[in-house]
Amino acid sequence: MAFTYSEKVMDHFANPRNVGEIENADGIGEVGNSKCGDIMKMYIEVNDGVITDVKFKTFGCGAAIATSSMATELIKGKTIDEALKLTNKAVMEALDGLPPVKVHCSVLAEEAIRSAVADYYKRQGIDPEPIMGKIESAHEHTHEEFEE
Ligand code: FES
Repeated sequence: MAFTYSEKVMDHFANPRNVGEIENADGIGEVGNSKCGDIMKMYIEVNDGVITDVKFKTFGCGAAIATSSMATELIKGKTIDEALKLTNKAVMEALDGLPPVKVHCSVLAEEAIRSAVADYYKRQGIDPEPIMGKIESAHEHTHEEFEE
């Protein structure tokens, strides 16, 4: 089956922004995609409630790379609250869409951001759950996947 990717998806896949890791990051998130088992790690640097830097690394497909690249661009320079409002749908729209079978890949970026913010809160001694709700863990997901 042939998929059509938008030019923006191809650009962010071929030249992903913000790949790597941040030494001494203020928050690190790691999540797994429950559908395919791919893994993403997200690092954030936070100053006065603003995400001043963000980087990601993924063991994931092209759509996961493109959506994460776009997601990092969209949250850099934004407040934590704004970053938490970023949905995978908004990221997909910014990329001019994804083929339907790849929509689940975009969830990885959204969850990785949430996981990194939760880690940031924990490091500040703040329980993230009352603020953000329950946070999914990569390990729970991937284990479930392998047990099936
Ligand atoms: Fe795994 Fe896309 S197929 S994230």
